[in-house]
Amino acid sequence: MKIGVLTGGGDAPGLNAAIRAIVKDACRHHGDEVLGIKYGWAGLINEKASEEDRVIPLTLKDVSGILIKGGTIIGASRTNPLERRGGMKALKRNFEKFGLDALIAIGGEDTLGVAYKAFLRYGLPVVGVPKTIDNDLWETDSTIGFNTACHIATEYIDRLHSTAESHNRVEVVEVMGRHTGWIAIRSGMAGGADAILIPEFPLTIDTVCEIIQQRIAEGKKFSIIVVSEGYKLDGKLVVQSGGKDAFGHEELGGVSAPLSAILEEKLNKKIRRKDDKIEVKPEKLGRVQRGGIPNTYDRVLATRLGLRAVDLVHNHQFGRMAAIKGYDIVDVELKSAVGAADEERRVRTVPKALFETATRLFG
Ligand code: F6P
Repeated sequence: MKIGVLTGGGDAPGLNAAIRAIVKDACRHHGDEVLGIKYGWAGLINEKASEEDRVIPLTLKDVSGILIKGGTIIGASRTNPLERRGGMKALKRNFEKFGLDALIAIGGEDTLGVAYKAFLRYGLPVVGVPKTIDNDLWETDSTIGFNTACHIATEYIDRLHSTAESHNRVEVVEVMGRHTGWIAIRSGMAGGADAILIPEFPLTIDTVCEIIQQRIAEGKKFSIIVVSEGYKLDGKLVVQSGGKDAFGHEELGGVSAPLSAILEEKLNKKIRRKDDKIEVKPEKLGRVQRGGIPNTYDRVLATRLGLRAVDLVHNHQFGRMAAIKGYDIVDVELKSAVGAADEERRVRTVPKALFETATRLFG
């Protein structure tokens, strides 16, 4: 068979491990040819670009040594064929032009949403592999990159702990996650955050102040607050000025700065001496959460998911996604993974029980 592979959306640690597993298994055990589609869906639909900018044959030699590398050797982009005129038709046309028998799309809700539409509309033989540091896909307990991102965020929180303690400061650590608080809740719990602000169950600023004041009353003059980029301040998301991406998402990021300013103002309202001032410092982690080497969990997860994707292709089980449930690798309908059956279920959010567990350790 000739199998296309693409990585769409934001990059995430573990993508190369998945590509390697797919190529090794497909070439070595099935005698397949694997064609890397460059820069996500762009490689399939950008017909004006040269062929070498769009596709790259992937052999055993090409994937040697990439297991531990961050990023993706075939590039990623947020190109959305659904938003371009004739984009889906171009996708189908080029799928045929490149002689593909199947396509493995590695991505999050956006990339896999397009894969599902291509399967639904044209019956294209597509399977999915779940990837996103946000961990907001349905039907899988984890997505490639999430575990490493949490690890990076936790290390960052750990490092801020010691400096916060030395200076009696409040550190407000902003992590990614888009409209869900998975990274915040996981890294916040692991890093012993005194409060965690997530979009799903937003604590009020007054509650955060109370937690900090209570700690001060107990003699702990520093605090660590973790906030997810999707936490709304005064009911509003904090967005960058860059406008929306091709999937209609606003670029989030920056909530830690205004949040810190508000906290600092409220906390210092009643102080009498300048020396008693409580300093609140914002720390935005940004894309460092997506960078660098994948950790053990993500390398193994990506490898197992990639292998299941090859199985799905060879069993002609298209329109499905490899997933992890508990410790088992399973496969599920792409349709339910991307929440296509129900707009309300578009992204998988942090469950109440997990948030409540975390709150028991606040302060
Ligand atoms: O979806 C992954 C993610 O890192 C989000 O957490 C974040 O909001 C977004 O991508 C940033 O995307 P980009 O790097 O394309 O601006």
